[in-house]
This record gives sequence, C-alpha cells and structure tokens, in this order.
Amino acid sequence: MAKELGVGIIGCGNISTTYFSLSPLFKGLKVLACADLNRSAAELRAEEFGVKAQSIEELLANDEIDVVVNLTIPAAHFEVSKAILEAGKHVYSEKPLVLSLEEGEELRRIAKEKNLAVGCAPDTFLGGAHQLARKHIDEGGVGRITSGTCHVMSPGMEMWHPNPGFFFLKGGGPILDLGPYYIANLINLIGPVKRVGALTSMANPTRTVTSQPLNGQVIPVETPTNIHALLEFVNGATITLSASWDVWSHRHANMELYGTEGSIYVPDPNFFGGVVEASGRDKDIKPLEDWAHPFGISNQESPNGPRANYRTAGLADMVMALIEGRDARCSLERSLHGIDVMTSILKSGEEGRFIELTTTCSQPAALGIEEAQSLLR
Ligand SMILES: NC(=O)c1ccc[n+]([C@@H]2O[C@H](COP(=O)([O-])OP(=O)(O)OC[C@H]3O[C@@H](n4cnc5c(N)ncnc54)[C@H](O)[C@@H]3O)[C@@H](O)[C@H]2O)c1
Repeated sequence: MAKELGVGIIGCGNISTTYFSLSPLFKGLKVLACADLNRSAAELRAEEFGVKAQSIEELLANDEIDVVVNLTIPAAHFEVSKAILEAGKHVYSEKPLVLSLEEGEELRRIAKEKNLAVGCAPDTFLGGAHQLARKHIDEGGVGRITSGTCHVMSPGMEMWHPNPGFFFLKGGGPILDLGPYYIANLINLIGPVKRVGALTSMANPTRTVTSQPLNGQVIPVETPTNIHALLEFVNGATITLSASWDVWSHRHANMELYGTEGSIYVPDPNFFGGVVEASGRDKDIKPLEDWAHPFGISNQESPNGPRANYRTAGLADMVMALIEGRDARCSLERSLHGIDVMTSILKSGEEGRFIELTTTCSQPAALGIEEAQSLLR
C-alpha cells in the first residue's frame, strides 16, 4: 500500500473548512479535490485551500483519490457513502454515519464485498483529555465503572448555524447530532452498550432561526429535541444521558463516571482538550496531572479561549490503519454500534419500552502519546 493516500471531500459546507485546514497536520493523506451538489460551494473551498473542484461524478472517477470524506448533511450520508463505496473508494464520514441500522448494514455489505474501509467521526475521543481519562480508568484509578451521568443541553442550533434546518429534521436532533460524541467516548472509556430506554419529547413543533442569513425563517421540528436516556453497558455500568435543545441554562457536568474506587469528571467530548478531574475514596476531587498528549495541546483561538482541535485525527488513524493493516479506532463496527445505540434510544422513546441492542463492538485501542505523535507530520 502507498505511503500516502489521496483524499477527496464531498460536501463543502460549514465543517469542511475544519477538514481542509487541519488535514495538512497529519501524515499519510493529502486532500486533492472536492465536490458539492452546489458547484459554487466546491469552487469556493477549492480556491481557498488550493485543491481541485470537481463534479461528484468526476471526483468519484478520479484515480488519484483513494478515500472520500463525506461531509454532506445527515440525510444524504447513506446515499453519498454508498456511491463512494460503489466507485471503489474508502469512505470516512462525518457523524452520524447513517440514519438507520439497515443503512449501516448495507454499507457494511458493500464494503466487505469490495474490500474497502468505512470510518466515521467523531474522533474527539482521541483527544488528550479523553485519552488521559482512558489511561486513568485502564490503570484502575477509579476501580470498575458502575454508573455515571452525561448531559448535553442547550437552547439549540438555530442561533449560530448558517443553515440550521437539517438539525430539526429526521437524522438531526440532539441525540443523533451530539449523542455521537458521548456514545463514542463512552465506548472508548467503558465499552459497548447492552440495552437502552428513553423518554423523548419536543418543546415546540417549529423554531425561528436567529442566525444569518436566514434570520426570521420558521423551520419545522420533525424529531425529538429533548431526550432522557438510560444506557446499560455490557460491563454492567448504568449511565444516564440527557441530550436536549430545549434548555436555556443548567448546572450539570458533561460527563461524570462513578467507579468502585472513586469518580472521574470528563470534559466535553465534543472537544479534544479540557481538564480531567478525579477523586478516590477520600472524595478529594483533583485535576489529573496533565500529560504532554499531542492532541490536547491548544492550537486554535475560540470565543471561549484557546482550544485543542485535531478533527481529521480519526481519518488519519484510518488511513494509517489501512497502510499498516491494523484496526482503525473510528471503525465501521464502532460507528454502527453507536447508530444502534442512538436509533434504539429514539425507538424506545416512541415505543415506551427498553430496547436490547443487536450490535456490539470492541473498545478502540487507547491512543497514547507516541502513537498520536506518529500520526502527525
Ligand atoms: N458544522 C459543524 O460545526 C459540524 C461539526 C461536526 C460535525 N458536523 C457534521 O458535518 C456534516 C455537515 O455539516 P455542516 O455543518 O458542514 O453542513 P452544511 O449544511 O454547512 O454543509 C453541507 C454541504 O453538503 C452539501 N450536500 C448536501 N447534500 C449533498 C449531496 N447529496 N451530495 C453532495 N453534496 C451535498 C450541501 O450543498 C452543503 O454544501 C453533518 O453531518 C454534521 O453533523 C458539523
């Protein structure tokens, strides 16, 4: 296998700038071309980042491209990823991978038949903070995790995203949009889920956009915007996950995990960095000693101050996994399990009963300092 794979990007909207600007940090891949249903969006990014703008058909037929990154909206993820596989190229998708387990199984079937890889964001669990939490748990710092709470709650997305309609349609909602970060990190820290139960609701059947350029537009809400879920893990741990876009303010932490020997406080899994705190049986909560993990080092300014952003690390890990013939951390198996967890949460809300999951996965390998460093140029 080549030492560097050619990458194409389909979907040149909001998040694409992150991929274009951060991918040069990583070894093993080079973004060569981009495409979008909206040709001018592709041309804009092509000019901005010095790559070639192509039609979707041209990009899929481009012999220099081995891996295509799918950055389209969730409702298009399945069709676009399927077309990429059918064109004989590996796929790395933004989350959620697909909107149903059936779609995911179909991608798995085609990928297997064509001997291609499918990977999916989120990759934020590869961040320095979450890998530090993983190390502390693996070393027995809090004993066996038995329970925990996760909260991701805000007033919504229509006040910042330039085109927020898709967040409130099927495939959007806080569980499919933000749930992936929490589920992926819980799989990283605890392992796979066994069954789920949930109560779901929506505060309003429509929302009014307050961001530009669609300020004032009224958009329909077709998916629950308020979810309270219970997850039972294969290891026996029971976790509460609240995901809502109907909450103006709250005082809950992002992720607290309780073990037989202590507790660990994990920062927002939507980001790579942050402070990890923990206590033992003495109940003395202290920050864990920071470690020089490359994916925890601040490299960007944000409205909340400096932050670590290494999105595309999961793509880089998948590319190196292909080159080295090993398991990718953001693998199809784990992403599909995440889809099973999230769609089962929504189904439980609809049907009013616990749902046993039909998929499972292994914990991804921990990503220590040296291996993370080896992904960087
Ligand atoms: N915006 C963020 O901060 C963010 C962060 C993390 C993940 N994501 C995920 O990234 C994905 C894209 O989000 P976004 O915010 O960039 O959306 P966006 O609406 O800004 O951009 C999506 C782009 O995909 C194009 N597109 C839609 N359907 C297509 C199709 N069938 N074929 C080709 N192009 C198509 C659109 O024309 C648009 O340019 C979503 O899955 C989202 O959950 C977004």
